[in-house]
Amino acid sequence: MSHELRTPLTSVIGYAEMMAEGLAGAVSTEQREYLTTILGKADQLLGLITSVLEVSSLESGQLALERGQLSLADVVASEVATFQPQASRRGIEIQLDARGDSVVIGDRRKIRQVVSSLLSNAVKFTPDRGKVGVEVRQGPLAPGPAADSTVAVQLVVSDSGIGISREAVAKIFEPFFQADSSSTRAFGGTGLGLTLAKAYVEAHGGRIWVDTTPGAGSTFVATFPITEGRS
Ligand SMILES: Nc1ncnc2c1ncn2[C@@H]1O[C@H](COP(=O)(O)OP(=O)(O)O)[C@@H](O)[C@H]1O
Ligand SMILES: [Mg+2]
Repeated sequence: MSHELRTPLTSVIGYAEMMAEGLAGAVSTEQREYLTTILGKADQLLGLITSVLEVSSLESGQLALERGQLSLADVVASEVATFQPQASRRGIEIQLDARGDSVVIGDRRKIRQVVSSLLSNAVKFTPDRGKVGVEVRQGPLAPGPAADSTVAVQLVVSDSGIGISREAVAKIFEPFFQADSSSTRAFGGTGLGLTLAKAYVEAHGGRIWVDTTPGAGSTFVATFPITEGRS
């Protein structure tokens, strides 16, 4: 299925790129603009297809992790660097605070995607000149009174954005759910980011939750248990 969906799109992208490079003859300014739009939308569609395939593989219970030792602080620092330019353009500064040991055993690619989903939402749902903060620290694995004393590495992403209503909070981790369909049109997205983030975090034995106030902002926390015996 993956192959059938991706192959034609890969050709569309490849040929549009060749055209943009002038391999099929001179390209006017206006034609270049159209090609840029085609490439942007094709890329978006490729991302959507990838997410949909990923969600359907979750539903058929095929989530395999490639485990290795990694520093969450390093993954976070590189994702912050990726998002900083687009945030800066809107006057949003991403504050990073990562201190202490943040080594976990996990799937680097999937953990990177968790960080990227939370960061992209924080930037996307925060108005211009707002604030986004990312913290990596040690803390409890789960929210609330600590019945479970497991220590975890916590990824905390907070924003001064639009927040999430009480009714919507219950659904944001469901596939394709977007809180406000009218405003979400303006924000783009597919409603799959948090679904995948939750599945990935839980596959690592962690938790993900949110604390939010409509109009004031949101704080998402994802935790990864610290495995005993790592060296
Ligand atoms: N930081 C945030 N601030 C406000 N709303 C959020 C935030 N993160 C997620 N949401 C809400 O949860 C929905 C689902 O998020 P997600 O699964 O990442 O989908 P998408 O980003 O594609 O809309 C969003 O559409 C939005 O309504
Ligand atoms: Mg998202």
